Amino acid sequence: MKLPVEGDNWHQVIRSDKLKLGKKKMRNIGLKSIMLLRQESTVHATDALCRHMAWPLAYGGKVKDDCITCPLHQTRYDLNNGEVKEWSPFPLFPLYGRFLGSLRRPSPLVVHETRELDGWVEVRLSTA
Ligand code: FES
Repeated sequence: MKLPVEGDNWHQVIRSDKLKLGKKKMRNIGLKSIMLLRQESTVHATDALCRHMAWPLAYGGKVKDDCITCPLHQTRYDLNNGEVKEWSPFPLFPLYGRFLGSLRRPSPLVVHETRELDGWVEVRLSTA
């Protein structure tokens, strides 16, 4: 999938060897906070904060089947395109989850392009 990008600016965000398999990190590019995640075949970069109520996904986000689930109310996003798979289901108290979900309209997580070059993970910010 081709992402709308901010110019041709690649930003070195973390040394490749500092991002271990399965681990998430939060980094800033200027004023923008992003989350990085290394998987077997790729490095994902997304906006750092959950679109529901801004929980930082690097802290406690669960990754499974190419999706990340926010630990707060369990909103789940596709890591490849940011699509919302589930919005605030909050299985512990589903009625409360629905109420909390209604406070903010579902919106996708912004996904950024990544590459690895000369021992660095680089990110090109999406304008989406
Ligand atoms: S803040 Fe992430 S699901 Fe509510």
